[in-house]
Amino acid sequence: METLKAIQTRNSVAHLSEPAPSIEEMEEVYKGALRAPDHAWLRPWKYIEIRGDARKKLADSFIKASISSGEEMTDELREKLEKAPFRAPMVIVLAADIKEHPKVPKIEQIISLGASGQNILLALHDIGYSAVWRTGKMAFNKHITEALELPPNYEVIGYLYVGTPSGNIKKLPELDLTNHLTRWE
Ligand SMILES: Cc1cc2nc3c(=O)[nH]c(=O)nc-3n(C[C@H](O)[C@H](O)[C@H](O)COP(=O)(O)O)c2cc1C
Repeated sequence: METLKAIQTRNSVAHLSEPAPSIEEMEEVYKGALRAPDHAWLRPWKYIEIRGDARKKLADSFIKASISSGEEMTDELREKLEKAPFRAPMVIVLAADIKEHPKVPKIEQIISLGASGQNILLALHDIGYSAVWRTGKMAFNKHITEALELPPNYEVIGYLYVGTPSGNIKKLPELDLTNHLTRWE
């Protein structure tokens, strides 16, 4: 696919089923992810790729994080968290390995990981898969960092749910560029 066309036609898909991309396909996708812009080359990008039965471990981490954040673990909430990772055949956790740097604040490192996440979405679209980026309560807090057994300086910024579209694909929105762009002359 032509690069610009891929960028213009990427579409988030919530209903995802098998197959997920293969390990080999994902290696190519990550090569694209690792080309995100990165101030001072700090390489803040960490990905945890979770598929198949390993999604149960992710559900367990969600439950652990929820309990340690003080939420009441009702049967309903437990069931919701148990099901969450199974909404797609593969989930990629985006975690920022935040470093102290005199010129590169945390926000820049998170933006860099965000850019790499977008590269992943675009690369997946280019090779015929779909995905959706999700956050919610399982992002941006120390409880999920701990539950995923990541070092304390890591910040979980989101989850890419990945697979093959099942069901309807939404129409791409038609946006008016004039609402977003100012040209100085
Ligand atoms: C940082 C970030 C977090 C998001 N979190 C969620 C989320 O938790 N749940 C959700 O339904 N959509 C979430 N979204 C939005 C979807 O990923 C998606 O962008 C949205 O459904 C619009 O679809 P589109 O990307 O095809 O325009 C998030 C997007 C971003 C960039």
